[in-house]
Amino acid sequence: MACEVPIKSMMSSAVTLLTPRHVAVIGAGAAGLVAARELRREGHRVVVFEKGEEVGGMWVYSPEVDSDPLGLEAKRRLVHSSLYDSLRTNLSRESMSFRDYPFRRREGKGRDSRRFPGHREVLLYLQDFAAEFEIGELVRFGTEVLFAGLDQCGKWRLTSTSPHTHPVDEIYDALIICNGHYVQPRLPHIPGINAWPGKQMHSHNYRTPEPFQDQVVVLIGSSASAVDISRDIATVAKEVHIAARSVEEDKLGKVPGHENMWLHSMIDSVHEDGTVVFQDGNAVGADFIIHCTGYKYDFPFLETNGEVTVDDNRVGPLYKHVFPPALAPWLSFVGLPWKVAPFSLFELQSKWIAGILSNRIALPSKEEMAKDVDAFYSSLEASGTPKRYTHNMGILQWDYNNWIADQCGVPSIEEWRRQMYIATSKNRVLRPESYRDEWDDDDLVLQAQQDFANYLT
Ligand SMILES: Cc1cc2nc3c(=O)[nH]c(=O)nc-3n(C[C@H](O)[C@H](O)[C@H](O)COP(=O)(O)OP(=O)(O)OC[C@H]3O[C@@H](n4cnc5c(N)ncnc54)[C@H](O)[C@@H]3O)c2cc1C
Ligand SMILES: *[C@@H]1O[C@H](CO)[C@@H](O)[C@H](O)[C@H]1NC(C)=O
Repeated sequence: MACEVPIKSMMSSAVTLLTPRHVAVIGAGAAGLVAARELRREGHRVVVFEKGEEVGGMWVYSPEVDSDPLGLEAKRRLVHSSLYDSLRTNLSRESMSFRDYPFRRREGKGRDSRRFPGHREVLLYLQDFAAEFEIGELVRFGTEVLFAGLDQCGKWRLTSTSPHTHPVDEIYDALIICNGHYVQPRLPHIPGINAWPGKQMHSHNYRTPEPFQDQVVVLIGSSASAVDISRDIATVAKEVHIAARSVEEDKLGKVPGHENMWLHSMIDSVHEDGTVVFQDGNAVGADFIIHCTGYKYDFPFLETNGEVTVDDNRVGPLYKHVFPPALAPWLSFVGLPWKVAPFSLFELQSKWIAGILSNRIALPSKEEMAKDVDAFYSSLEASGTPKRYTHNMGILQWDYNNWIADQCGVPSIEEWRRQMYIATSKNRVLRPESYRDEWDDDDLVLQAQQDFANYLT
């Protein structure tokens, strides 16, 4: 089979024309939508594959759940979204927004103008974004990518299917993966769990509190969603017991302000008579365990001949969490980092990828990228950071964003966004019940509004 000569090698080095590519994007959530916008802005030809029927990804709420509530069965019916009915955003709308498309308060039927709105408002924002930039026309809805692998010419062969057609094979220059990573549950091992008689579920399948009426519930985890779900359930349950890692001694016991909620250390073991024993020695007879224990990265369609693997939840090797050195720039990932302000980070990653694909922005050599990745992994190891925290950014996200912004030649991340994120994070820990309705950073809101006004004129 004859391979097409890459366009770049036919051009003299003096030619600086942007090179348009044929690019496949997998997923039309926040990451895929902004990737599609940036790619098209850069002149690429884009097809977005979306197995769902609408844009928005995990912000498309479904009352349905997986056929296996723990998510252990490989062949179970899978529901993409992990949203629960009561979910409100854990970031303010300003700090959550894309950089040049403000998440404005909109009044009107069906809109939620609160600063930390309910989940439906985020879906509407993403729909508005898609409409504003005419992304919908690039998306093939109801189309799932079953396979993506390299052919002999170094191009991507994608096999996709939609309900009423045979699988279709197509060739693309580049592949961008935006499939989300809050779908495949991660479960801890608990001694005795196989003989424990109660019911279990992973938070991926939590929707509403009703099933927990009058039950004694043990909830494992301390993430944002664990905090929300415990409060949600406590409104109807008999007792809620939270098992969390690294709880300060003086926080153990009854949770202030709640009649039926206790905080414990991690579970030590569970028993045939229904008892759950905590490491602090306390024990309760429980009806239900809810695992709010996080998710695993999963790319079931991706074949890279071993160039990219998922090892203890590290997707790697990846240069700056985006490009596998061996396959750069033809394969990239948008949206892997966690504990971040996601949309603005997705936007920067996407700009960077789009500019690299067109040859406007340069990447280091494969060797240099591989070296950089090695150095990064060594530094994690030296600081005792487990592999599964590779994409955990937290405080590092601002330098990361600014490094990418610099590569792209766009302004660094807004100072108000950083300060607002930090202020919210503090309040979320101090006042989990009220941080969404009471705040003290109105000065930052004002700066955000001014900034958006400047951006748009
Ligand atoms: C419970 C919860 C609460 C959160 N709250 C907030 C918040 O308040 N604020 C915030 O900013 N962030 C929040 N996040 C983070 C959230 O993940 C990001 O906001 C963001 O929406 C993720 O977008 P994404 O595009 O990466 O993934 P997703 O939104 O998951 O989109 C992935 C898309 O890919 C599609 N797809 C997957 N595989 C295939 C395939 N093989 N073929 C075709 N299509 C495919 C899916 O159908 C889906 O539409 C929260 C996350 C969770 C889990
Ligand atoms: C918001 O909630 C999601 C789901 O629990 C979590 O992954 C994310 O880290 C939270 N965001 C912040 C800034 O804490």
